Amino acid sequence: MRKRERKIVNAQITGVGKYIPEKILDNKYFEKIVDTSDEWIRTRTGIRERHVLEEGGTSTLATRAVENLMEQTGLKPEEIEVIIVATVSPDMFFPATACLVQDNIGAKNAWGFDLSGACSGFLFALQTGANLIESGQYKKVVVVGADKMSSIVDYTDRTTCVIFGDGGAAVLLEPTEDLEYGVQDSILHCDGSGKEALHMLGGGSLNPASHETVDKKMHYIYQDGQKVFKVAVKGMADVSVEIMKRNNLKSEDIAYLVPHQANLRIIDATARRMGISKDQVIINIDKYGNTTAATIPLCLADYYEEKKIQRGDKLVLSAFGAGFTWGAIYLTWSID
Ligand code: COA
Repeated sequence: MRKRERKIVNAQITGVGKYIPEKILDNKYFEKIVDTSDEWIRTRTGIRERHVLEEGGTSTLATRAVENLMEQTGLKPEEIEVIIVATVSPDMFFPATACLVQDNIGAKNAWGFDLSGACSGFLFALQTGANLIESGQYKKVVVVGADKMSSIVDYTDRTTCVIFGDGGAAVLLEPTEDLEYGVQDSILHCDGSGKEALHMLGGGSLNPASHETVDKKMHYIYQDGQKVFKVAVKGMADVSVEIMKRNNLKSEDIAYLVPHQANLRIIDATARRMGISKDQVIINIDKYGNTTAATIPLCLADYYEEKKIQRGDKLVLSAFGAGFTWGAIYLTWSID
């Protein structure tokens, strides 16, 4: 029997990778297909363009992100012990997207599973992966956030189609005995009474796919934007301030807020409540739109690539999404 080491360790992020599909849909494209304008989209959401995957499913995005992670870190597929894929757009109900990634990359010693937490999915998966590392049983856990939102967006609905994009990003979690580094704290929530405001009703066991579910457009995202906006602003800001207080973090201690990228106005409101300045907020919603589970790891991957995050930086990751789900994770960055 494999023995657990009982040393106290933190889970630290030791690598990041990403994949953004090539095809870009800019705001002008949406002016041609729905009644909208570049100006409305930019000022109401902060989005300029988003990318869409033409061939393949979410496992393609996830696989390429993990391949990029392996290229950057030298991680070998057979070293990976666990793969967790946060997504709301799995290739299929089963097998899990994590199994498809495992097979694509040849991670022959890994087990894995998908985690459905919508826009908070990456935070839920990161906390789960961190707990696996902290248990002492695992030393190399890959956590992926990936969504092919274009597969569940109704491109005749202007209230949702302009918002979402496709993308994937991944982090490698490993233990550290230096408890100054890695995941320090998390506050996570869900409240299923929010189900009326943001959902996709069709295709599950309650409403299996039928001509009727297709006719009623039940296989697309439905969102009551204003309702979600109000709870998202409060939920994300409250939980971000709470994690600061609980860890005695002052605004100047935080290198970056790494927020879910749903709407620039929600991000600005959260930053204001935290008392941090604009240059302490990671933003890439302008380039990718809302990629659901991928937004937060994409932020980490972009800023790491641009050498804007340094070892020792204190980060607050914060999200709000369907469910409702929301939460924040406080971590100290370990990569040079
Ligand atoms: N182009 C032009 N007009 C649009 C539009 C578009 N793409 N989408 C909606 N509108 C219109 C509405 O029909 C409405 O028109 P009306 O006043 O004539 O009825 C008007 O713009 C205002 O709509 P509203 O829904 O109040 O806009 P908003 O400022 O709330 O922005 C969202 C809409 C979706 C961008 C915003 O509500 C939002 O970001 N919600 C939260 C998203 C979120 O956090 N989701 C959780 C994670 S996925």
